Amino acid sequence: MSFEFDLGFLGGGQLARMSIQAAQRMGLRCISLDPGEDTPASQIAPHLVGRLDDPAKIAQILSCAAHVTLENEFIPASAIAEAFHFVSGSEDRMLPGIDTLASIQDKLSQRQALANANVPTPTAVSIDGDGEGAITAIGFPMVLKARFGGYDGKGTRYARTREEFESHRPLWENGGWLAEGFVPFTRELAAMVFIERESGIAGAFPTVETVQENHVCSLVYPCDNDATEIAIAAVRAVGGFGLFGVEMFELPDGSIQINELAPRPHNTGHYTLDWGGPSQFDVHVRLACGYPVAHLMESISPLGVCMANLLGQPNAGGFEPALNALLHSDTRSRFHWYGKVEAKSGRKMGHLNISQRPGESLSELVEATKLARKNFYAAWTQATTLH
Ligand SMILES: Nc1ncnc2c1ncn2[C@@H]1O[C@H](COP(=O)(O)OP(=O)(O)OP(=O)(O)O)[C@@H](O)[C@H]1O
Ligand SMILES: [Mg+2]
Repeated sequence: MSFEFDLGFLGGGQLARMSIQAAQRMGLRCISLDPGEDTPASQIAPHLVGRLDDPAKIAQILSCAAHVTLENEFIPASAIAEAFHFVSGSEDRMLPGIDTLASIQDKLSQRQALANANVPTPTAVSIDGDGEGAITAIGFPMVLKARFGGYDGKGTRYARTREEFESHRPLWENGGWLAEGFVPFTRELAAMVFIERESGIAGAFPTVETVQENHVCSLVYPCDNDATEIAIAAVRAVGGFGLFGVEMFELPDGSIQINELAPRPHNTGHYTLDWGGPSQFDVHVRLACGYPVAHLMESISPLGVCMANLLGQPNAGGFEPALNALLHSDTRSRFHWYGKVEAKSGRKMGHLNISQRPGESLSELVEATKLARKNFYAAWTQATTLH
């Protein structure tokens, strides 16, 4: 069977855009599906406009693309499964697998899959009825999470006391929330894991430390704790093939617990665009299309890279003056912009990567990156007041 496109993306945001850029370098033809008319992906490749939970729309992508992948884990696994009934060809054309997606998109079943595989992760239970069962099972301090659809901390709440737990009642009383133990972590780490479907061979990009501000990833830089083994075990626990972002907690004794998995390229892997080897997007595209990746990283000399997210700022103007200020303030800055139509406050608009100079310490690198971002923001918001 011949297809018009080599690779279809469910979702048209920045992760699809950067994956498409990697695919296009290899000459592959891509298409995306997104409810938005003008998306980061639609600006660089053909696209369909439609809801991501509409099996008929998903089937349209399955009909025209030889391989299909996604850029967010909120697309209901059931909608994708239903879409496959409309078209010919095996579900192997899709990465991640539908069962893996189903297990990940419910944060409770994800925790249970990890626990069943003896991968260290906080104990989690569903909050049912009057919530007393969850209080008994978990105790305080506790973290409450929406089982489905949370991102950038939007479905996460803390409860240090029974009173705080009660104050969140309007959220959890109708179901769909879990309670888990608060992890007194010292750092948050992450690693991008890849597993080939045919061979089962697994590997990972270097482990990084991630710093969140207001629950949104702000900075990512190299880390001295190698979490490759546990990160791979976590992906195997959900039967995963393809590329996964693995978010982790590091405890005071250096041990690691899994926070959560994302079955796709991930913000904490953006540094790989400038680290001297294949990027997470190169690997994602190769895996999604069934190409091998096992030996891809054997002959590279990795650079230490610090990544800073560029978030929408109140009163932000056009980004060009900000780009100018950024590149003049630190000429090492590698600038990545997603082309989003609106710079809503807090929205991920782009990121910058700075790679470590010989002799530069990690803290110097991180400070240089923060300064470059500060200069970008200053010029970006200044630009509006001048308009
Ligand atoms: N059990 C926990 N103990 C302590 N802190 C936690 C716990 N769970 C989550 N957090 C904090 O809340 C942040 C957001 O939680 P989580 O990653 O589950 O939510 P999310 O909204 O899916 O995240 P993302 O920002 O990755 O989209 C974590 O990065 C961490 O800082
Ligand atoms: Mg998270």
